[in-house]
Amino acid sequence: MKILVVDDEAVQRDLLSGFLRNQGYDVLTAANGEQALDVFRQEPVPLVILDHRMPGQTGDEVLVQMKALNPMVRAIMITAYGSVNTAVTVMKLGAVEFFEKPVDLPVLLQKIQQLEQQLEVEEDVAVVEESIDESPLPLKIVAESAGMKEVLSVVRRVAESPFAVLIHGETGTGKELVARLIHLLSPRADNPFIEVNCAAIPENLFESELFGHEKGSFTGAANMRRGRFELANNGTLFLDEIGDMPLFLQPKLLRALQEKKINRVGSEATIGVDVRLVSATNRDLKALSGEGQFREDLLFRVKVLEIEMPPLRQRKEDIPHLVDFFLERYTCGRNIRLAPETIDTLVKYPFPGNVRELENVVQRSVTLSRGPVIYPKDLPEEVRHHQATAQGTLSERLEAVEREMMLSALEKSGWVQTKAAELLDISERVLRYKMKKYGLKNNAGK
Ligand SMILES: Nc1ncnc2c1ncn2[C@@H]1O[C@H](COP(=O)(O)OP(=O)(O)OP(=O)(O)O)[C@@H](O)[C@H]1O
Ligand SMILES: [Mg+2]
Repeated sequence: MKILVVDDEAVQRDLLSGFLRNQGYDVLTAANGEQALDVFRQEPVPLVILDHRMPGQTGDEVLVQMKALNPMVRAIMITAYGSVNTAVTVMKLGAVEFFEKPVDLPVLLQKIQQLEQQLEVEEDVAVVEESIDESPLPLKIVAESAGMKEVLSVVRRVAESPFAVLIHGETGTGKELVARLIHLLSPRADNPFIEVNCAAIPENLFESELFGHEKGSFTGAANMRRGRFELANNGTLFLDEIGDMPLFLQPKLLRALQEKKINRVGSEATIGVDVRLVSATNRDLKALSGEGQFREDLLFRVKVLEIEMPPLRQRKEDIPHLVDFFLERYTCGRNIRLAPETIDTLVKYPFPGNVRELENVVQRSVTLSRGPVIYPKDLPEEVRHHQATAQGTLSERLEAVEREMMLSALEKSGWVQTKAAELLDISERVLRYKMKKYGLKNNAGK
C-alpha cells in the first residue's frame, strides 16, 4: 500500500517513513501542504499521515483539499502532545485517527494494518456498490464508521435469506440491536420476534421454556404453556448468549431446527414450527466446541451466516455520533451538551464495555449534570483516569515504544538476535543491552 507522509520536520518525517518502509510499505514524503497536494494529485494514495501543525497550510486545510480530490482517502493526523480540541476537529474532518507526539510506532502500525484490511473490504464492497441499498432503516442505529457500514450492508443482505445467522462480538457492541434489525428487514417482519436469553434461564426450566409443557407434566406445571419456539412460529427466534446453552439440551435444539418439529414437555404430539434462527454470542464457539462444551453439528446449524460486530475502540469515528444519539435519548428536551474536551476524553478512552458503556456514561453525566455543559471532570473516574495514565511522561512513553518494537522484532525473527538487530537497524551489542534492560526473554529461555 502507498502511504504519503507529510511533515515539515525532517527528523520526524524520516523516522516515520523509515519505520513504514521497514514494514514493507511504499512510502512517499512531502515537507509541506503544497508538495503533499502535488504528490496526491499524481499518485493514487489511499492513506496520508499528516502533521497537524506545519508552516503554511495546516494539516486540517490539506486534508480538506485531499478529501475534495478523493473522498475515500484515509488520513491519520499527528497532533502536538496535549492539544485539546484538535482530536474532535480532525475527526469531524474525516481523519480516521489521530496520534499525539511522540508517536507510538507499534500502535500506529496496528492502526495502519487495520485500515488496510478495511480498504480491502471496501474494494470488495465497491464492486457491488450500485446494488447497495441506502433506504431508511426501521430502527435507529449509528453507523458512521466503515466497520459499522459494512455490518449494515451485510445485515441488509442476510435479512432477506431464510438461513440461520450468528452474530459474534464483545459485550455491548450492539448484537441484540442487529438481531432486531435483521428481523425487521426480513420477510418475517410482521410476525413475532421472540428472544431467549440462554444465560438467564435455570437449566431445569430450559426445555419447557423452549418447547413448552403440558398441564401437570412436572411439579409446578399447573397449566399448559407454549414454549418460545411455538411463539416464534413464522417469525424470528433470537437465541441470545447461545454459548451458554446447556450441553444436554443441544441435541434437542438441533433436532427442532433440523426437523422443524417440537414436542411440548410431557407430550408425545409433535408440533410443526417454522422459525428463522438468529443467535448471538460473545464467546468463541469454535473453541467451546473443541473443548466439548458446544456441539459441532449445532455450531454448523446456527452459523450458516455470520456477522462480526467490531468493538467500539476500532471504530472511534462513531463515538461523537453515538454521543449525540444518546444525548437526544436522555436529555428529554433539556439543553445539555458536552464540552469539546469531554468528547476528546471519550474518543481517547478504549471502552471495554463498548457502546453500552458509552451509553451509561452519557446517561449518568446527563442525570448528574448541574449546568448545560458537561466537562471532563463530570465523567466517571475510570474514563478520566485512563487518559492520565495513557499519556505518562515523555521518557516513559518512549521506553514503552522501544520495548514494544524490540519485542515485536524479536518475535518476528524467532528470537534470532542477529536478525532482530538487523530489523531494528541497531547493533547486536545494543540489542543485548536493551533486552536486559527491559527484561526481554524468550519463553524457551533463549
Ligand atoms: N450502533 C448503535 N447505535 C445506537 N445504539 C446502539 C448501537 N450499538 C449499540 N447500541 C445501544 O447500546 C446498548 C447495548 O447494545 P446491545 O444490547 O445490542 O449489545 P449486545 O452486543 O447485545 O451486548 P451484550 O453482549 O452485553 O448482550 C443498547 O442500548 C443499544 O441500543
Ligand atoms: Mg445482548
